[in-house]
Amino acid sequence: MKAKTSYKEALNNKIFTITSQAAATLNVKSYVIGGYVRDFLLNRGLKKDIDIVAVGSGIALAEKVSSLLPGKPKVQVFKNYGTAMLRHNDTDIEFVGARKESYQWESRKPHVETGTLEDDQNRRDFTINALALSLDEADFGELVDPFNGMDDLKKGIIRTPLDPDITYSDDPLRMMRAIRFATQLNFTIEEESLKAIGRNKDRISIISGERIVDELNKILMAPKPSTGFKLLHQTGLLQIILPELTALKGVEEVEGQTHKDNFYHTLEVVDNIAPNTDDVWLRWSALLHDIGKAPTKKFHKKIGWTFHGHEFVGGKMVKKLFERLHMPLNHKMKYVSKMVMLSSRPIVLAQDIVTDSAVRRLIFDAGEDVEDLMTLCEADITTKNPQKFKKYHNNFKIVRQKIVEVEERDHVRNFQPPISGEEIMEIFNLKPSREIGVLKEAIKEAILEGEIPNEYNAAHDFMMEKALKMGLKTN
Ligand code: CTP
Repeated sequence: MKAKTSYKEALNNKIFTITSQAAATLNVKSYVIGGYVRDFLLNRGLKKDIDIVAVGSGIALAEKVSSLLPGKPKVQVFKNYGTAMLRHNDTDIEFVGARKESYQWESRKPHVETGTLEDDQNRRDFTINALALSLDEADFGELVDPFNGMDDLKKGIIRTPLDPDITYSDDPLRMMRAIRFATQLNFTIEEESLKAIGRNKDRISIISGERIVDELNKILMAPKPSTGFKLLHQTGLLQIILPELTALKGVEEVEGQTHKDNFYHTLEVVDNIAPNTDDVWLRWSALLHDIGKAPTKKFHKKIGWTFHGHEFVGGKMVKKLFERLHMPLNHKMKYVSKMVMLSSRPIVLAQDIVTDSAVRRLIFDAGEDVEDLMTLCEADITTKNPQKFKKYHNNFKIVRQKIVEVEERDHVRNFQPPISGEEIMEIFNLKPSREIGVLKEAIKEAILEGEIPNEYNAAHDFMMEKALKMGLKTN
């Protein structure tokens, strides 16, 4: 017999004592299970999502709990799933009845046979997520751990309670969850489990893009996302969900000339950017910044390997990728696409003497996102040559400084033409026509080039001169 361990200190939230009372009234046993217990034991703090299993009806327990809570919060019942949710203070509590059968995690059948706690634990994804604490008055806080999940927690192992082929076929998303937990917690996926992912990888195709992206986002938001992407690659999942990335893998050699492995380079960039931003979309930009390199790669006898126009091609690919994975096609997609399109600009700029006009053009094109673009490009410096590394970083410091100076002086970040199309029409008595566009463009170019300041009077004088040359007459 193993010694029993109690973790009452995890259960200070009043919701647990109330659940305990409610369960006693209904004469059912109840347990808190899953992520809440796992994160508590890992000292990751107390989660705001709590999962409770009732050995009986989860819905009845939820309703009883609500009746005992001040204000009797509304119970949301998901009949098809056999679950019920309620919100108390800032915590979401989900109640589910313990089940016996195998079922699809996301399409739980309403009339599955009620099982014991152990049956339910068996059907969960990983031993570290099957740990339960009793809410029974008699043994409140006692750990129920039939698969040595505690041991796996201590050793840092992701292991399925059942044969992994069964666990992953119950819900193929769990293959990604295994990799996501390994990345977030810096754990190792147990060998049989890892092999099973490789065997079952094609089953990921039945999972919705939204659920896949949820996991990808969590991997991206981990401190070292490359861990997850390497595992996704190693198991073959990446090839299915993000073939644009696996297409970057490998080094080709022609006539003794090679190029860098853009897949591993990309993963380095993602790891580099992680400490500098918590914006998931900027991290996506890092992940996708080079995807245009696979379709544009060419070898030229004289100059070697080129990836001409890869930024533009990559930017276009972003939209297709977002569509395929059912990601939002809103301003977030446009942001990532723009980041990819502009991803080489600062480095090209920094290789030369940093001129004001080049900086002005960069601010003009990147607008509000110019600092994010700099953060991306700094992460893109993966050279192993210490001199070059230092030089690029120093150049970027100069660029950042210049961005502030130039913007203060010239205000091109949210460029508004100093003279409107309407005014041009009025001054020269023009109907909507090509000439207006030509004049507006010439003014903009003169400002970006630094020929004139971004001011009304200067723009007006410049326009009059230009119009004269074009043969335009004032009113
Ligand atoms: N679970 C499962 N299989 C899934 C999803 C969830 O077995 N595909 C079980 C696990 O026991 C898990 C619990 O349901 O711990 C709660 O799932 P969820 O809220 O998705 O994840 P957490 O483990 O709480 O972790 P996180 O919030 O970090 O996703």
